[in-house]
Amino acid sequence: MIKAITGTKDILPFDISKWRYLENVIREKMQSFNYKEIRTPVFEETALFSRGIGEATDIVSKEMYTFLDKGGTSLTLRPEMTASVGRAFIEHSLSAKQNLNKLFYIAPMFRQERPQAGRLRQFHQFGAEALGSDSPALDSEMIILAFDILKALGLNGLTVKVNSLGVPQSREAYKNVLKEYLSDKLNLLSEESRKRFYTNILRIFDSKEENDQEVMKNAPLLIDYLDQESLQHFEAVKKLLSCASVPFEVDPRLVRGLDYYTKTTFEIISGAVGSQSALCGGGRYDLLIEQLGGKPAPGVGFAAGIERILLACENENSLTIDGESLDLYIIRLDKSLQDKTFDLGLSFRRKNINTEFDYLDRSVKAQMREANRLNARYVIILGGEEYLNGQLILKNMSDGVQENISLEQLDYICSKLSKKGE
Ligand code: HAM
Repeated sequence: MIKAITGTKDILPFDISKWRYLENVIREKMQSFNYKEIRTPVFEETALFSRGIGEATDIVSKEMYTFLDKGGTSLTLRPEMTASVGRAFIEHSLSAKQNLNKLFYIAPMFRQERPQAGRLRQFHQFGAEALGSDSPALDSEMIILAFDILKALGLNGLTVKVNSLGVPQSREAYKNVLKEYLSDKLNLLSEESRKRFYTNILRIFDSKEENDQEVMKNAPLLIDYLDQESLQHFEAVKKLLSCASVPFEVDPRLVRGLDYYTKTTFEIISGAVGSQSALCGGGRYDLLIEQLGGKPAPGVGFAAGIERILLACENENSLTIDGESLDLYIIRLDKSLQDKTFDLGLSFRRKNINTEFDYLDRSVKAQMREANRLNARYVIILGGEEYLNGQLILKNMSDGVQENISLEQLDYICSKLSKKGE
């Protein structure tokens, strides 16, 4: 039997209501913060990601789904959206249309990671990117937007971590300090961290290995080596977060897994999802657009993992979503009325009344059971003496009240049925 690829998941009809609910919350919040939706292709030229995210990152060096197409071009299934949004921003000269572009997305991403709870190979992110301003107000806005969405989903147990990675000059100077600190401790580090010492030294802070953490406990911190401009920017971000009542902690050890960040970085962590606890991550990337070949344009953004968020919602029992219901179920008393039932059902469906009827030759009792199972608000009973008199029975399933209605009066039924919640 052919099964879904490890690390990918089918989202089945009974899970969809949660996804829809979450997507509605995201869309509403994005709209109130005035972000416009963008959709980009699922695959791009590989160079976009290796240049944008950084060759030495785990994503680019280990996790991308990269393949040659039949023309010999190296393509990659997008592992994240920021590079794609940047590419579209440059390609369509979005900066010429307006100075500041505030964009959002909800889309599948692909990374060949070791699957576990909350870590998939095809997963979904929602996120936002603001391109064209270096104002710290936008860094804070991103954090507030992400935090507000997670709060609107009823999540508690959230920790907002913020840090600043400064500008490349101060970061490079700091890397030398870190290198010096670690140079006589290399033998104490794990093999992975020893490799990172040469390729991506900041990421050693991310190691989960006890020995590495012990060594890094006393390491010099980038925040103490920041340039004035980055420090002032960081202060402004923190001030606005406090004004917005977003609780946060500065985590000087927060380094992100993508190379494009400058100044602010942040993550929102949940205490409710086990080891894959980062629900959301983001930061400022003032040099990315230039690195991708565009005219310089500062940017800031975040992305959040939908599967992880749903896991957190489940563990915190934070979503109460009404079960699916049906407007109308048509029960036919007599098999000879099958065509009439089809016909009547179609008239309601064409008036956008969500209607179902039997296709399986079921008994009247079984049709009634099906109407209940589908949570039908109303049932039409078609047949018997009423039908011979040109009528049908309309039954309100919530109070059991029945009415005899002429078969000609479909509009009356429609008006009754469209008054949802009554
Ligand atoms: P990221 O930290 O790589 O950032 O991913 C953001 C979020 O996507 C994570 O916090 C996590 O919730 C989710 N995620 C990542 N990998 C997986 C996975 N394998 N399975 C399930 N969920 C996952 C970015 O992607 C950046 N583009 C964020 C950004 C936007 N920075 C600036 N703008």
